[in-house]
Amino acid sequence: MTSRPELQAPPEIFYNDDEARKYTSSSRIIDIQAKLSERAVELLALPEDGVPRLLLDIGCGSGLSGETLTEYGHQWIGLDISESMLSIALEREVEGDLMLGDMGQGLGLRPGVIDGAISISAVQWLCNADKSSHDPRLRLKAFFGSLYRSLARGARAVLQVYPENLAQRELILGFAMRSGFSGGVVVDFPHSTKKRKEYLVLTCGPPSLSSATPKGKAEDGESCSDEESSGDEQNQSVYVADRNRPRKKQKLNKKGKGREWVMRKKEQMRRKGNTVPLDTKYTARKRKARF
Ligand SMILES: C[S@@+](CC[C@H](N)C(=O)[O-])C[C@H]1O[C@@H](n2cnc3c(N)ncnc32)[C@H](O)[C@@H]1O
Repeated sequence: MTSRPELQAPPEIFYNDDEARKYTSSSRIIDIQAKLSERAVELLALPEDGVPRLLLDIGCGSGLSGETLTEYGHQWIGLDISESMLSIALEREVEGDLMLGDMGQGLGLRPGVIDGAISISAVQWLCNADKSSHDPRLRLKAFFGSLYRSLARGARAVLQVYPENLAQRELILGFAMRSGFSGGVVVDFPHSTKKRKEYLVLTCGPPSLSSATPKGKAEDGESCSDEESSGDEQNQSVYVADRNRPRKKQKLNKKGKGREWVMRKKEQMRRKGNTVPLDTKYTARKRKARF
């Protein structure tokens, strides 16, 4: 059987009473989730002025990630789809306010009230269609749209994700981008299969100096250099979005729309998660004039 929980059952079923208890009592998981949450808080880059902020923990589970927010002195609201996970969070008397809900249906929060959001190991669940009514693309759109609206202008969301493949990663990124976020992906320990971790670091608003994507961590704990961050999969920080990107279509003359142009467009559409016909020798071939 596959080891990815996302492929085994919908989250509210996978994280049943047994699994939720097992998850929360595993010292290995506690340790990993704490480290991921600490890094997420670091990437949130909140002002170090001692003022507690109101943060959101998306897919908060039994409160392991939320506890880190409490340790840093912040208030938080946790959202999760699994009743069992939330029951354990209640049992453990976590400090945050808990909401039972499906992020794929939007967060349902008042606009501009949240100072920052984290999500640890949860958002990739949206890429699966667990019901016939589920369209991952619509769910990602609803999620990122509502996250954007709930954040104060200039606030950050740091989402640690485990995409199954490049297509999922691009799908998640694409929808973050379309919702208006600026920012990018930070990859820590890119060369280690075990330690490699990806964080979407998103800022609510157009790109600015403060929305520049931080560097990922390298094996020795140092930040990766600029040279290392060039190249595709190895990128430490990948530019994602420009909210003010002109939406107008590029003007191309007839000459420009050759096979190369069509292939480029098809690749773009694939990256956005659209179904695109396979490339064949007929792709972009000039049609014969009809009589
Ligand atoms: C791996 S657990 C992580 C829990 C917590 N963030 C932590 O660090 O311990 C993933 C969590 O995401 C939640 N989740 C998955 N899909 C969700 C959805 N559509 N809406 C809300 N929560 C979801 C699951 O129920 C689960 O509690």
